[in-house]
Amino acid sequence: MTAESVFTNGRIVLEDRILSGTVVIRDGHIVAIDEGRSAAGENLDGDYLIPGLVELHTDHLETHHTPRPAVHWPKLAAIQSYDGQIASCGITTVFDCLRLGSDEDGRFADNAMRDMAGALMSARADGRLKADHFIHLRCEVSSHDVIDQFETFGDVDIVRLASLMDHAPGQRQFQTMEQFTLYYKTMRGLSDEEFDAYVARRQAASATYSDRHRTTIAEAARGRGITLASHDDATQAHVDEAIALGVRLAEFPTSLAAADASHKAGLSVLMGAPNIVRGKSHSGNIAARDLAARGTLDVISSDYVPYSLIHAPFVLAEQVAGVRLPEAIAMVTATPARAVGLADRGRIAEGLRADLVRVRVADGVPIVRGVWRSGERIA
Ligand SMILES: [Fe+2]
Repeated sequence: MTAESVFTNGRIVLEDRILSGTVVIRDGHIVAIDEGRSAAGENLDGDYLIPGLVELHTDHLETHHTPRPAVHWPKLAAIQSYDGQIASCGITTVFDCLRLGSDEDGRFADNAMRDMAGALMSARADGRLKADHFIHLRCEVSSHDVIDQFETFGDVDIVRLASLMDHAPGQRQFQTMEQFTLYYKTMRGLSDEEFDAYVARRQAASATYSDRHRTTIAEAARGRGITLASHDDATQAHVDEAIALGVRLAEFPTSLAAADASHKAGLSVLMGAPNIVRGKSHSGNIAARDLAARGTLDVISSDYVPYSLIHAPFVLAEQVAGVRLPEAIAMVTATPARAVGLADRGRIAEGLRADLVRVRVADGVPIVRGVWRSGERIA
Protein backbone atom coordinates (compact mmCIF):
# COMPACT_ATOMS: atom_id res chain seq x y z
CA MET A 1 0.00 0.00 0.00
CA THR A 2 1.56 3.27 -1.08
CA ALA A 3 0.37 6.77 -0.27
CA GLU A 4 0.80 9.15 -3.21
CA SER A 5 0.03 12.87 -3.48
CA VAL A 6 0.40 15.28 -6.38
CA PHE A 7 0.91 19.06 -6.18
CA THR A 8 0.36 20.83 -9.48
CA ASN A 9 0.23 24.31 -11.00
CA GLY A 10 2.88 25.55 -8.55
CA ARG A 11 6.03 27.61 -8.83
CA ILE A 12 8.46 24.98 -7.59
CA VAL A 13 11.55 26.55 -6.00
CA LEU A 14 14.51 24.32 -6.82
CA GLU A 15 18.02 25.03 -5.58
CA ASP A 16 19.04 26.88 -8.77
CA ARG A 17 15.78 27.91 -10.48
CA ILE A 18 12.02 28.14 -10.30
CA LEU A 19 10.03 25.62 -12.32
CA SER A 20 6.33 25.91 -13.15
CA GLY A 21 5.03 22.43 -12.70
CA THR A 22 4.15 19.40 -10.63
CA VAL A 23 5.66 17.49 -7.71
CA VAL A 24 4.71 13.90 -6.91
CA ILE A 25 5.32 12.43 -3.45
CA ARG A 26 5.02 8.82 -2.37
CA ASP A 27 5.48 7.28 1.07
CA GLY A 28 6.83 10.51 2.51
CA HIS A 29 9.40 11.15 -0.22
CA ILE A 30 9.61 13.21 -3.40
CA VAL A 31 9.48 10.84 -6.38
CA ALA A 32 8.99 13.11 -9.40
CA ILE A 33 9.32 16.76 -10.44
CA ASP A 34 7.87 17.64 -13.82
CA GLU A 35 7.32 20.71 -15.90
CA GLY A 36 3.68 21.30 -16.81
CA ARG A 37 0.38 20.58 -15.14
CA SER A 38 -1.23 17.38 -14.01
CA ALA A 39 -4.99 16.84 -14.33
CA ALA A 40 -5.11 15.25 -10.89
CA GLY A 41 -3.87 16.38 -7.49
CA GLU A 42 -3.85 19.53 -5.36
CA ASN A 43 -3.95 22.69 -7.50
CA LEU A 44 -1.45 25.13 -5.99
CA ASP A 45 -2.99 28.00 -7.90
CA GLY A 46 0.37 29.49 -8.85
CA ASP A 47 1.68 29.55 -5.25
CA TYR A 48 5.31 28.82 -4.51
CA LEU A 49 6.21 25.32 -3.34
CA ILE A 50 9.44 25.49 -1.34
CA PRO A 51 11.31 22.95 0.82
CA GLY A 52 10.33 22.79 4.51
CA LEU A 53 12.41 25.33 6.42
CA VAL A 54 15.38 24.18 8.52
CA GLU A 55 15.85 26.36 11.61
CA LEU A 56 19.18 26.08 13.44
CA HIS A 57 18.88 28.71 16.16
CA THR A 58 15.62 29.67 17.83
CA ASP A 59 15.27 30.87 21.41
CA HIS A 60 11.51 30.73 21.18
CA LEU A 61 10.98 27.62 23.31
CA GLU A 62 12.19 29.74 26.24
CA THR A 63 9.45 32.29 25.57
CA HIS A 64 6.81 29.56 25.76
CA HIS A 65 8.37 28.02 28.88
CA THR A 66 8.74 31.39 30.64
CA PRO A 67 5.86 33.51 29.33
CA ARG A 68 6.24 35.94 32.28
CA PRO A 69 9.44 36.54 34.29
CA ALA A 70 8.38 34.38 37.25
CA VAL A 71 6.10 31.93 35.41
CA HIS A 72 7.44 28.53 34.31
CA TRP A 73 4.81 26.89 32.14
CA PRO A 74 4.56 23.04 32.27
CA LYS A 75 7.25 21.79 29.89
CA LEU A 76 5.25 19.42 27.71
CA ALA A 77 2.49 21.99 27.21
CA ALA A 78 5.08 24.69 26.46
CA ILE A 79 6.75 22.43 23.88
CA GLN A 80 3.48 21.69 22.10
CA SER A 81 2.44 25.32 22.01
CA TYR A 82 5.85 26.25 20.60
CA ASP A 83 5.81 23.35 18.11
CA GLY A 84 2.46 24.52 16.74
CA GLN A 85 3.87 27.98 16.16
CA ILE A 86 7.03 26.61 14.52
CA ALA A 87 5.06 24.40 12.12
CA SER A 88 2.70 27.22 11.13
CA CYS A 89 5.76 29.25 10.02
CA GLY A 90 6.72 26.52 7.52
CA ILE A 91 9.54 25.14 9.69
CA THR A 92 9.68 21.35 9.40
CA THR A 93 13.08 20.83 11.06
CA VAL A 94 14.02 22.85 14.12
CA PHE A 95 17.01 22.99 16.44
CA ASP A 96 15.67 24.13 19.80
CA CYS A 97 18.18 26.23 21.73
CA LEU A 98 18.86 25.25 25.31
CA ARG A 99 21.38 27.42 27.14
CA LEU A 100 24.07 25.97 29.36
CA GLY A 101 26.19 27.72 31.97
CA SER A 102 24.65 29.48 34.97
CA ASP A 103 24.49 33.25 34.95
CA GLU A 104 23.59 35.76 37.62
CA ASP A 105 20.06 36.22 36.28
CA GLY A 106 19.23 32.87 37.90
CA ARG A 107 16.20 32.60 35.63
CA PHE A 108 16.41 28.83 35.36
CA ALA A 109 17.32 26.10 37.87
CA ASP A 110 20.59 24.26 37.10
CA ASN A 111 18.79 21.19 35.75
CA ALA A 112 16.00 23.05 33.91
CA MET A 113 17.54 22.62 30.45
CA ARG A 114 18.23 18.91 30.94
CA ASP A 115 14.64 18.46 32.10
CA MET A 116 13.48 20.29 28.98
CA ALA A 117 15.55 17.93 26.82
CA GLY A 118 13.86 15.00 28.58
CA ALA A 119 10.43 16.47 27.87
CA LEU A 120 11.39 17.01 24.21
CA MET A 121 12.50 13.40 23.83
CA SER A 122 9.22 12.18 25.39
CA ALA A 123 7.20 14.44 23.10
CA ARG A 124 9.08 13.08 20.07
CA ALA A 125 8.69 9.46 21.15
CA ASP A 126 4.96 9.94 21.78
CA GLY A 127 4.39 11.44 18.31
CA ARG A 128 3.14 14.72 19.77
CA LEU A 129 5.18 17.02 17.55
CA LYS A 130 4.50 18.44 14.11
CA ALA A 131 8.08 19.52 13.27
CA ASP A 132 11.20 17.35 13.52
CA HIS A 133 13.00 18.60 16.66
CA PHE A 134 16.71 18.51 17.50
CA ILE A 135 18.64 20.33 20.22
CA HIS A 136 21.18 23.12 19.88
CA LEU A 137 23.15 23.54 23.12
CA ARG A 138 24.21 27.15 23.58
CA CYS A 139 27.28 26.87 25.78
CA GLU A 140 28.41 29.98 27.68
CA VAL A 141 32.09 29.06 28.02
CA SER A 142 32.80 31.85 30.52
CA SER A 143 30.46 30.18 33.04
CA HIS A 144 31.93 28.07 35.85
CA ASP A 145 29.49 25.16 35.49
CA VAL A 146 29.03 24.88 31.72
CA ILE A 147 31.02 21.61 31.50
CA ASP A 148 29.06 20.01 34.35
CA GLN A 149 25.81 20.90 32.60
CA PHE A 150 27.09 19.77 29.17
CA GLU A 151 27.98 16.36 30.60
CA THR A 152 24.40 15.75 31.75
CA PHE A 153 23.44 15.63 28.02
CA GLY A 154 25.66 12.63 27.26
CA ASP A 155 22.62 10.38 26.68
CA VAL A 156 20.59 12.89 24.66
CA ASP A 157 21.03 11.76 21.07
CA ILE A 158 18.99 14.61 19.56
CA VAL A 159 21.76 17.08 20.47
CA ARG A 160 23.23 17.78 17.00
CA LEU A 161 24.59 21.31 17.36
CA ALA A 162 26.58 23.15 20.04
CA SER A 163 27.64 26.79 19.97
CA LEU A 164 30.54 28.29 21.89
CA MET A 165 29.59 31.67 23.37
CA ASP A 166 31.44 34.21 25.49
CA HIS A 167 29.23 37.13 26.48
CA ALA A 168 31.70 38.75 28.88
CA PRO A 169 32.13 42.51 28.31
CA GLY A 170 34.96 43.36 25.93
CA GLN A 171 34.42 40.10 24.01
CA ARG A 172 32.68 39.53 20.69
CA GLN A 173 29.01 40.68 20.81
CA PHE A 174 30.00 43.29 23.38
CA GLN A 175 33.25 44.60 21.97
CA THR A 176 32.45 48.09 23.17
CA MET A 177 31.38 48.93 26.72
CA GLU A 178 28.52 51.05 25.37
CA GLN A 179 26.87 47.93 23.93
CA PHE A 180 27.34 45.97 27.14
CA THR A 181 26.13 48.84 29.32
CA LEU A 182 22.99 49.25 27.26
CA TYR A 183 22.28 45.52 27.30
CA TYR A 184 22.92 44.76 30.97
CA LYS A 185 23.03 47.90 33.11
CA THR A 186 20.00 49.61 31.65
CA MET A 187 18.04 46.38 31.28
CA ARG A 188 18.71 45.23 34.87
CA GLY A 189 18.60 48.67 36.46
CA LEU A 190 22.01 48.41 38.20
CA SER A 191 23.73 51.28 40.04
CA ASP A 192 27.19 52.37 38.83
CA GLU A 193 28.90 50.45 41.65
CA GLU A 194 26.84 47.31 41.14
CA PHE A 195 27.50 47.44 37.40
CA ASP A 196 31.29 47.91 37.85
CA ALA A 197 31.44 44.93 40.20
CA TYR A 198 29.36 42.85 37.77
CA VAL A 199 31.67 43.71 34.87
CA ALA A 200 34.73 42.78 36.95
CA ARG A 201 33.20 39.41 37.89
CA ARG A 202 32.24 38.60 34.28
CA GLN A 203 35.70 39.51 32.95
CA ALA A 204 37.44 37.47 35.66
CA ALA A 205 35.24 34.44 34.89
CA SER A 206 35.98 34.75 31.17
CA ALA A 207 39.74 34.92 31.85
CA THR A 208 39.56 31.89 34.13
CA TYR A 209 37.26 29.59 32.20
CA SER A 210 36.64 30.52 28.57
CA ASP A 211 39.66 29.04 26.78
CA ARG A 212 39.60 25.79 28.75
CA HIS A 213 35.86 25.27 28.46
CA ARG A 214 35.85 26.09 24.74
CA THR A 215 38.45 23.40 24.05
CA THR A 216 36.78 20.82 26.31
CA ILE A 217 33.36 21.23 24.69
CA ALA A 218 34.82 21.24 21.17
CA GLU A 219 36.58 17.92 21.87
CA ALA A 220 33.47 16.36 23.40
CA ALA A 221 31.32 17.55 20.49
CA ARG A 222 33.72 16.09 17.91
CA GLY A 223 33.64 12.77 19.75
CA ARG A 224 29.84 12.68 19.64
CA GLY A 225 29.35 13.87 16.07
CA ILE A 226 27.80 17.17 17.20
CA THR A 227 28.26 20.06 14.73
CA LEU A 228 30.06 23.04 16.30
CA ALA A 229 29.20 26.71 15.89
CA SER A 230 31.16 29.79 16.83
CA HIS A 231 29.16 32.74 18.13
CA ASP A 232 29.56 36.51 17.70
CA ASP A 233 33.04 36.24 16.17
CA ALA A 234 34.51 39.72 15.74
CA THR A 235 38.14 39.35 14.64
CA GLN A 236 40.39 37.26 12.39
CA ALA A 237 41.82 35.71 15.58
CA HIS A 238 38.33 34.51 16.58
CA VAL A 239 37.87 32.97 13.12
CA ASP A 240 41.27 31.27 13.24
CA GLU A 241 40.39 29.83 16.64
CA ALA A 242 37.04 28.55 15.29
CA ILE A 243 38.74 26.82 12.35
CA ALA A 244 41.27 25.19 14.69
CA LEU A 245 38.41 23.88 16.88
CA GLY A 246 36.60 22.29 13.91
CA VAL A 247 33.73 24.76 13.78
CA ARG A 248 31.41 24.45 10.72
CA LEU A 249 28.97 27.26 11.37
CA ALA A 250 29.71 30.91 12.26
CA GLU A 251 26.68 32.32 14.12
CA PHE A 252 26.10 36.05 14.14
CA PRO A 253 29.59 37.38 13.29
CA THR A 254 29.73 40.96 14.57
CA SER A 255 32.07 42.43 11.97
CA LEU A 256 32.23 42.28 8.18
CA ALA A 257 35.85 41.13 8.46
CA ALA A 258 34.91 38.12 10.63
CA ALA A 259 31.97 37.23 8.35
CA ASP A 260 34.07 37.45 5.19
CA ALA A 261 36.93 35.42 6.71
CA SER A 262 34.54 32.71 7.97
CA HIS A 263 32.77 32.40 4.61
CA LYS A 264 36.08 32.29 2.76
CA ALA A 265 37.30 29.50 5.05
CA GLY A 266 34.23 27.42 4.12
CA LEU A 267 32.23 27.96 7.31
CA SER A 268 28.52 28.66 6.88
CA VAL A 269 27.84 32.21 8.02
CA LEU A 270 24.51 32.46 9.90
CA MET A 271 22.66 35.71 10.59
CA GLY A 272 19.27 36.49 12.07
CA ALA A 273 16.13 36.80 9.97
CA PRO A 274 14.83 39.61 12.24
CA ASN A 275 17.97 41.55 11.31
CA ILE A 276 17.02 41.13 7.60
CA VAL A 277 13.36 42.04 8.07
CA ARG A 278 14.23 45.10 10.20
CA GLY A 279 17.24 46.07 8.06
CA LYS A 280 19.58 46.20 11.05
CA SER A 281 20.83 44.38 14.15
CA HIS A 282 19.00 44.78 17.48
CA SER A 283 22.33 45.14 19.30
CA GLY A 284 23.96 47.60 16.92
CA ASN A 285 26.16 45.11 15.05
CA ILE A 286 26.38 44.50 11.28
CA ALA A 287 23.38 44.29 8.94
CA ALA A 288 22.71 40.86 7.44
CA ARG A 289 21.55 42.47 4.17
CA ASP A 290 25.07 43.87 3.71
CA LEU A 291 26.51 40.37 4.01
CA ALA A 292 23.98 39.05 1.49
CA ALA A 293 24.98 41.80 -0.95
CA ARG A 294 28.66 40.82 -0.51
CA GLY A 295 27.83 37.15 -1.13
CA THR A 296 29.02 36.06 2.31
CA LEU A 297 25.67 35.20 3.93
CA ASP A 298 24.96 31.45 3.92
CA VAL A 299 22.26 30.66 6.50
CA ILE A 300 19.36 32.61 8.00
CA SER A 301 17.87 31.80 11.41
CA SER A 302 14.68 33.09 13.04
CA ASP A 303 16.49 33.82 16.33
CA TYR A 304 13.71 35.44 18.40
CA VAL A 305 10.79 35.79 15.88
CA PRO A 306 9.73 32.44 14.33
CA TYR A 307 7.78 33.91 11.42
CA SER A 308 10.80 35.93 10.29
CA LEU A 309 12.32 32.75 8.81
CA ILE A 310 9.80 32.60 5.96
CA HIS A 311 9.65 36.40 5.66
CA ALA A 312 13.39 37.14 5.36
CA PRO A 313 14.18 35.25 2.11
CA PHE A 314 11.42 37.12 0.27
CA VAL A 315 12.78 40.42 1.64
CA LEU A 316 16.29 39.51 0.45
CA ALA A 317 15.13 38.48 -3.03
CA GLU A 318 13.10 41.67 -3.34
CA GLN A 319 15.56 44.16 -1.90
CA VAL A 320 19.12 42.91 -2.33
CA ALA A 321 20.55 43.10 -5.84
CA GLY A 322 22.16 39.84 -6.93
CA VAL A 323 20.16 37.60 -4.57
CA ARG A 324 17.48 35.64 -6.44
CA LEU A 325 14.67 33.77 -4.69
CA PRO A 326 16.19 30.26 -5.09
CA GLU A 327 19.42 31.46 -3.42
CA ALA A 328 17.51 33.22 -0.63
CA ILE A 329 15.35 30.11 -0.02
CA ALA A 330 18.49 27.92 0.07
CA MET A 331 19.65 30.00 3.07
CA VAL A 332 16.70 28.66 5.11
CA THR A 333 16.63 25.14 3.65
CA ALA A 334 19.48 23.43 1.75
CA THR A 335 22.43 25.21 3.34
CA PRO A 336 21.40 24.86 7.00
CA ALA A 337 20.54 21.18 6.37
CA ARG A 338 24.01 20.60 4.90
CA ALA A 339 25.74 22.52 7.70
CA VAL A 340 24.41 20.06 10.28
CA GLY A 341 24.79 16.94 8.12
CA LEU A 342 21.11 16.28 7.35
CA ALA A 343 21.44 14.92 3.79
CA ASP A 344 17.83 13.72 3.49
CA ARG A 345 16.11 17.14 3.36
CA GLY A 346 16.39 20.82 2.48
CA ARG A 347 15.74 20.63 -1.28
CA ILE A 348 12.93 19.70 -3.61
CA ALA A 349 14.69 16.82 -5.31
CA GLU A 350 13.83 13.21 -6.10
CA GLY A 351 14.51 10.84 -3.22
CA LEU A 352 14.47 13.48 -0.47
CA ARG A 353 11.90 13.79 2.32
CA ALA A 354 8.65 15.40 1.26
CA ASP A 355 9.06 18.36 3.63
CA LEU A 356 7.21 21.08 1.72
CA VAL A 357 5.65 24.51 2.19
CA ARG A 358 3.02 26.15 0.01
CA VAL A 359 3.38 29.92 0.22
CA ARG A 360 2.32 33.07 -1.57
CA VAL A 361 3.31 36.67 -0.90
CA ALA A 362 0.83 39.53 -0.58
CA ASP A 363 1.69 43.09 0.45
CA GLY A 364 5.28 42.04 1.04
CA VAL A 365 4.39 39.47 3.72
CA PRO A 366 4.26 35.74 2.96
CA ILE A 367 1.12 33.71 3.65
CA VAL A 368 1.84 30.08 4.55
CA ARG A 369 -0.97 28.08 2.93
CA GLY A 370 0.14 24.54 3.72
CA VAL A 371 3.00 22.66 5.40
CA TRP A 372 3.89 18.97 4.97
CA ARG A 373 6.46 16.96 6.88
CA SER A 374 7.44 13.66 5.22
CA GLY A 375 4.31 14.00 3.14
CA GLU A 376 1.98 14.44 6.11
CA ARG A 377 0.16 17.74 6.43
CA ILE A 378 1.13 19.47 9.70
CA ALA A 379 -0.17 23.03 9.17
FE1 LIG B 1 25.52 36.64 21.45
